[in-house]
Amino acid sequence: MEPARVFADPAALAEGAAVEIERIVRRAIDNRGRALVALAGGSTPRGLYGRLGAEPWRSRIDWSCLEIFWGDERCVPPTDSASNYAMAKEALLARVPIPERAVHRIDGERAPRRAAALYEEELRRITNLELPRLDLVVLGMGADGHTASLFPGTVALDEEERLVVATEAPAAPRDRVTLTLPMLNAARAVLFLVQGGDKAPALERVLAGGESSEPPPPAARVRPRRGELLWLVDRAATGA
Ligand code: 6PG
Repeated sequence: MEPARVFADPAALAEGAAVEIERIVRRAIDNRGRALVALAGGSTPRGLYGRLGAEPWRSRIDWSCLEIFWGDERCVPPTDSASNYAMAKEALLARVPIPERAVHRIDGERAPRRAAALYEEELRRITNLELPRLDLVVLGMGADGHTASLFPGTVALDEEERLVVATEAPAAPRDRVTLTLPMLNAARAVLFLVQGGDKAPALERVLAGGESSEPPPPAARVRPRRGELLWLVDRAATGA
């Protein structure tokens, strides 16, 4: 696996991620006329989203050619402060000229299994593919090695058919909807963004590969079959 790229601090990490995202999105638009991008939730990407929503990145990206999705969502209303959609909308989507019809949120206000089924239908409809391939999936990682809402020891990790499932988190908001490993590993590019010393033990396990007798962290199981895998981390996340 490619080594992680280490940045001095969260600001440098956000800038480095913006460079990669612009490159990947431009390649998708050049090749297929549009870029299908799934955003991460949590707190880490907020700095990146703020960068993308400001100059020069706001002007460098052709927002009219993007379709925006999410890697996961908490089962809360879209106006709830815990909503991944609400965070991305405030930090990025409200600041860039992306048409509303191109923003495909997960219906956190619905029953989780219904929201998951509807989202899978939407992914298939928008991509018009039997196995939808996203051009870019931005992911974070928890201190336990989870990513999206794929938590250690959950059945969602073993899903081999469905692209989106309902699952539970160990902490509130417990009900979640998440893309599954088959969906994540079909992506043309996956970009992990990891910052903070609390992530260092999990990051070390992920980057060490399968040397441990324990099951690999969920984040280690995201390895796009035919795509790029980028780990962008800050120095604190390396334990430095
Ligand atoms: C979520 C995210 C989740 C997040 C990690 C890291 O819904 O919370 O999808 O996978 O990326 O928990 O979260 P932080 O960036 O807040 O550390």
